[in-house]
Amino acid sequence: MRIILVGCGVVGRSFLSLLLKNKDYFVHSYGFNPRVVAIVDRDGAILHSRGLDLSRVLKVKEERRTVSADPEYGRPNLSALEVIRDVEADVLVEVTPTNVKTGEPAMSHIKEALKNKKHVVTTNKSIALALPALLELAAYNGVQLKFSGTVGAGMPVLDLARRLSGDRIISMRGVLNGTTNYILTAMEEKRMPFDEALKEAQKLGFAEADPSMDVDGIDTAVKLVILANSVMKRSVTLEDVSISGIRGVRLEDVMEASEKGFSIKLVGSVNKELVVKVNEVPKDDPLCVKGVLNAVTFSLEVAGDITISGKGAGGLETGSSIIRDLLEIRQAGLRA
Ligand code: HSE
Repeated sequence: MRIILVGCGVVGRSFLSLLLKNKDYFVHSYGFNPRVVAIVDRDGAILHSRGLDLSRVLKVKEERRTVSADPEYGRPNLSALEVIRDVEADVLVEVTPTNVKTGEPAMSHIKEALKNKKHVVTTNKSIALALPALLELAAYNGVQLKFSGTVGAGMPVLDLARRLSGDRIISMRGVLNGTTNYILTAMEEKRMPFDEALKEAQKLGFAEADPSMDVDGIDTAVKLVILANSVMKRSVTLEDVSISGIRGVRLEDVMEASEKGFSIKLVGSVNKELVVKVNEVPKDDPLCVKGVLNAVTFSLEVAGDITISGKGAGGLETGSSIIRDLLEIRQAGLRA
């Protein structure tokens, strides 16, 4: 499998380091030996049709800020769209920063790859702006669009939901944002002020480049839209979600709830309406997870409630979701 990686921030680099570290394991366990033939960051690209030396790429990125600074294989002026169109590859891995206002540059990258009959794996939540259209474009071109890392990162919530298809999902509730959950947990357990807890979450690499995405509930809403579309077949967009975040939550509210046996959580729910708002969740509810953990409870017609929880943010966790999706594409190819 030949891969083009577009975006070389925390997630992109984590993905590369996992490929490097677990190379033997992937070959041995799955016969999976991918070649990364191109990487694009903000300042250009690096190309090698036989597969890039990933330890060298990571070193160049760290020392010289851009992969295109590689003296032998670097191509400083090459754009992502040119690479996606012209480089021979099977899959585009798109991990540029999410932009829920315009969807760019991810939207253009993904469309270009699908039109050029390249599979796409993305962790970019901008897809929430046009998921049904993108899935249609993928199907039309006979390729796959995989995005399991957009919700839950390392926790395979979309994959679990697919396995629930024999039953009917009536509703769904989730703690879907690691940063706000980290902040609320730190406020409750360490009596830490909001700003200090946010700084810690940023240092640990969970928060979005613009933390208002997290604290104002937009990131949760975007994930809710992806879940509602892909799991509950609801054709909804961000505009259909009623959104409020955690800025108004005071330390005394958190402590008061805690004394009554509840924790304050930012919960996204899909019933008749799609809503993101703070809820008091009983401490013994499986949804009441701590720190950067995420959890989603599906309420099923027959089986009742099923909850999945796990680390919902972090570079390596999100990097592992990309490999999960690549393996699925490969399996489907082997079956075809
Ligand atoms: N900022 C997001 C979060 C990253 O904190 O959950 C993972 O989507």
